Amino acid sequence: MTVKIAPSILSADIMNLERDVKAAEQAGADLFHIDIMDGHFVPNMSFSPSVVEGMCRVTDKPLDVHMMIENPDAYVKPMVDAGADTILVHAESTQHIYRSIDLIKSYGVKAGVVVNPGTPLETVKELFPVIDQILVMTVNPGFGGQKFIPNMIKKIQRLDQLRQTAADDDFEIEVDGGINADTIAKCSKAGADIFVAGSYLFNGQDGLKDRIDNLKKLAK
Ligand code: DX5
Ligand code: ZN
Repeated sequence: MTVKIAPSILSADIMNLERDVKAAEQAGADLFHIDIMDGHFVPNMSFSPSVVEGMCRVTDKPLDVHMMIENPDAYVKPMVDAGADTILVHAESTQHIYRSIDLIKSYGVKAGVVVNPGTPLETVKELFPVIDQILVMTVNPGFGGQKFIPNMIKKIQRLDQLRQTAADDDFEIEVDGGINADTIAKCSKAGADIFVAGSYLFNGQDGLKDRIDNLKKLAK
C-alpha cells in the first residue's frame, strides 16, 4: 500500500488554521487528521463538528476524524453531515464497538477502530473483515507532542501479520502519536500505511514541504 501522511491539525496554529491547512496540502499532505476530544474520555478538549465543516471549505483532501469522546455514536451523524470521510472510534469508548462501526458504515463513510497502547489487538479482531482502518495509538491519547512508545512497534507487526493471514482483512494500518523522522521508518517497516504527524510537521522551523518529503522518503 502507498504511504499516506496525515497532518494532525491539533498542532496547527488555530488562529491561522486555513493558512496551515492550505500550506500542508500544497506540501503533499494526503489527508487531514482531526482530533475530537471531550474532556471525559481523554483529559483534554479540542474540536467539534463545526471545525470539520470548516475544514471542508478549505481543503478537498479526505478528513480523518479521530473520536476521543464518550458516547461516540451520538456524534457520528453530526460528523458525517459536517463532511467527515473516515470516522475512527476507540474500542474502549463504547460498549458495542461492532454497532458503532455498523452505524458509521450506514452513512457510507469509511469506518475505523482505534486501540489505545494498553488495549490488546484481540479486543478488535472480530472487526477486521468490516473495517477500513485500524488506528494504533503510539502514545496515550489526549495530547500532541508526546513521546512515541517503542513497544508499539511489535503490536503493529502483529497486526500486519494478522492482516496478511486473512484474505478479507484488507484494512489500512494507521499510527498516531510521536511520529517523526526518528520513528516513522520503524512503523513503516512494521506494516503501517497511514502516518499521523502533528508537532513534527507544524512546530518545526524549516519548511513543511521538506518535512513531509522527509517523512515520505523515510517511510518507503
Ligand atoms: C493525540 C492525538 C494525535 C496528536 C498527535 O491524542 O490523537 O493525533 O495530534 O500529535 P503528535 O504527532 O505531536 O504526537
Ligand atoms: Zn489523533
